[in-house]
Amino acid sequence: MTRTFFVGGNFKMNGSLDKVKSIVEGLNAGSLPSDVEVVISPPFPYLKWAKDHLTASTVEIAAQNSFDRGDGAFTGEVSVAQIKDVGSTWVILGHSERRTILKESDEFIADKTKYALDNGLKVILCIGETLEERQKDETLTVCNRQLDAVIAKVSDWSDIVVAYEPVWAIGTGLAATPDDAQDVHSKIRAHLAEKIGEKQAEGVRILYGGSVNGKNATTFNGKPDIDGYLVGGASLKPEFLDIIKSRA
Ligand code: 13P
Repeated sequence: MTRTFFVGGNFKMNGSLDKVKSIVEGLNAGSLPSDVEVVISPPFPYLKWAKDHLTASTVEIAAQNSFDRGDGAFTGEVSVAQIKDVGSTWVILGHSERRTILKESDEFIADKTKYALDNGLKVILCIGETLEERQKDETLTVCNRQLDAVIAKVSDWSDIVVAYEPVWAIGTGLAATPDDAQDVHSKIRAHLAEKIGEKQAEGVRILYGGSVNGKNATTFNGKPDIDGYLVGGASLKPEFLDIIKSRA
């Protein structure tokens, strides 16, 4: 089973229209490889601009959140229909910053995932343990629990990409080692195989996220269960192109 290499850029709550313009121009001029799926995720106000100005056919747009219901009296929320209306095809759900800072529960994330998929958005589903959980040897317990909440509600995983993002590696400059990441990824895939079947699990891309940059990206090459990256800080910099080309 060949899984298309996937590089996501999560801008988080960073940037400005000028910044997004320079990133999109960089991607347009970047001679991107045709066999790498790239998804960038600017903040909501810039989704439409980014979509309208991207010329690279391999680049799609993701929102950084969506709600678990359709249009209605939900002040401050953004609907799946609205995200699709401006040309986005993906949404990032379950990011640790939303789990920890916004107190989103496994259950809520699963509801949002189901709603997004049922209504035609593809989902980058983030999972991962905190430093404290890692030190207590709970990495897989946490990842499996976060996956199981979604497994309970979603049976077709063909439009889900899983991003394993250990919280201790996010924004710290301390990426997981390629061996450690591969070990967790293979166990995540084994867990998925047990729960959603081997065939589906073989097809699910599992990205690594946490301090990936233009220098360390190639060190993950050759790890069979690492199908790409979800990049934060470095996706705002020219080195994002190096990450996109790191598998070449
Ligand atoms: P950094 O690449 O900045 O560590 O962030 C990773 C991340 O959270 C992507 O979603």
